[in-house]
Amino acid sequence: MYQFLFVLLSISLISAQQFFDSPCPDRPVQQDFDLTKYISHKWYEVYRYNAMFQKGCECSRATYTLNTDNTVKVHNCCKKPEGNECAIGKAIVSFPEHLPLEGKLNVAFNDQPITKSNYWVLSTDYEKYSVVYTCGNIPGNKSIQFAWILSATPQLDESVSAHVNELIDKYFDRSALIVVNQSESFCEPRD
Ligand SMILES: *[C@@H]1O[C@H](CO)[C@@H](O)[C@H](O)[C@H]1NC(C)=O
Ligand SMILES: *[C@@H]1O[C@H](CO)[C@@H](O)[C@H](O)[C@H]1NC(C)=O
Repeated sequence: MYQFLFVLLSISLISAQQFFDSPCPDRPVQQDFDLTKYISHKWYEVYRYNAMFQKGCECSRATYTLNTDNTVKVHNCCKKPEGNECAIGKAIVSFPEHLPLEGKLNVAFNDQPITKSNYWVLSTDYEKYSVVYTCGNIPGNKSIQFAWILSATPQLDESVSAHVNELIDKYFDRSALIVVNQSESFCEPRD
């Protein structure tokens, strides 16, 4: 996690990141995590904390597919002012020996080492929503936090919005969440 943060920190001086004046809080993650169900469809990002690597991203969506070696191929795309942009990455379950699995994954892009547990599924119903989070402590009793509220459809299904709102109020600073534009007219064609 530290190596990951140093990279982020060196760039964060010039871009927005979500810093908190407190150390990483304890967050429970999804138990009995079912990776196959989780990656069975695309996920659309409806809210997120500022993250420099997503600067200017709207219409963000993630496609996860199983590689032959049982790692997960991550295909993240978003619309930037310059056009659609995609990033290819790889994910693995962080603690495969911990059974039943918990919702912790390591994700890395651009062939970076895939050694950090940095994609924590706090809660998902697999079919409609997923609440994803990660946090790293930084010197001075502070932390840098990442949050992604994902939906199986471009707009969050109304049947889960109350529950997702509860999770947001429980785990996140709502005022710091960015609303991601997923409107059809703005985002299509999404490829
Ligand atoms: C670190 O931050 C927490 C939460 O804000 C606070 O309770 C704690 O006293 C702080 N510790 C130090 C050493 O400042
Ligand atoms: C999405 O962006 C378009 C183009 O800037 C804007 O017209 C539209 O109102 C936005 N929709 C939402 C839901 O923010």
